[in-house]
Amino acid sequence: MFRIVEKRLLAPDIWLMNVEAPRVAKAAQPGQFVIVRGTEDGERIPLTVADYDREKGTISIVIQAVGASTRKIVAQNDYLADFAGPLGQPSEFIHEDIETLRGKKFLFIAGGVGAAPVYPQVKWMHEHGIEADVIVGARTKEMLIIIDELRKVAGNLYLSTDDGSEGFHGNVTALMKDLIDNRGKHYDEVITIGPMIMMKFVALATREYGIKTIASLNTLMIDGTGMCGACRVSIGGKMKFACVDGPEFDASLIDFDEAMRRQRMYKSKEQVADHRCRIGRGK
Ligand code: FES
Repeated sequence: MFRIVEKRLLAPDIWLMNVEAPRVAKAAQPGQFVIVRGTEDGERIPLTVADYDREKGTISIVIQAVGASTRKIVAQNDYLADFAGPLGQPSEFIHEDIETLRGKKFLFIAGGVGAAPVYPQVKWMHEHGIEADVIVGARTKEMLIIIDELRKVAGNLYLSTDDGSEGFHGNVTALMKDLIDNRGKHYDEVITIGPMIMMKFVALATREYGIKTIASLNTLMIDGTGMCGACRVSIGGKMKFACVDGPEFDASLIDFDEAMRRQRMYKSKEQVADHRCRIGRGK
């Protein structure tokens, strides 16, 4: 069992849990994810790492309660049954030479819950003396999350809302274009995490500017183990698995339309209220 040391509502239906998992915290890197099961008979859900503290041995995860299994996880107050990881490939930039990274200008673009996995990446850069700007977008002011934390580690933090209730009135792509076209900003690399449709339009826009762009396909994952095949995605015409080969890929090579079709295939299953995992429990 894994102790929940903090549980906090960030926005309607979006929870942050800080969980004691020392071995996961010791090995976690930005860009990776964990597989979580709320109760012994619950479904295993892959969730990206939203922060880690190696000294305290804790990992933060952010969960949007959208289906039966995620609701079961956020209903837990004291312990989670399983917490396995870290899994997936770390962000590509952690393997790059630090001086080379310091010479580049990064822009992170997060949509909705995507702000959570963006945070450890920007924090990592901040800790290594690399300045990165961040755009966080959401439908409304209430849906903007992890803003105070990001403000401490981002070079510049820009907010956008669809209804104009906070920051730029419009979507993240329009804000990025505004920064580049009207406010003299220049970026060498964009990293985007959020809804698939948002990442598709970010990638289309950055292609016009010739900016290298990385997108995270964590929302495509179902079991996160390479077994279910749900996260298959075409990258430059080659078949890859988001959970094993990713979740981050060169956005210019991702077939976003195919990925969105795959994502829709499982929508009805996510709403099943009485899922019972019977794998490997001898029941
Ligand atoms: S999520 Fe099942 S194979 Fe990747």
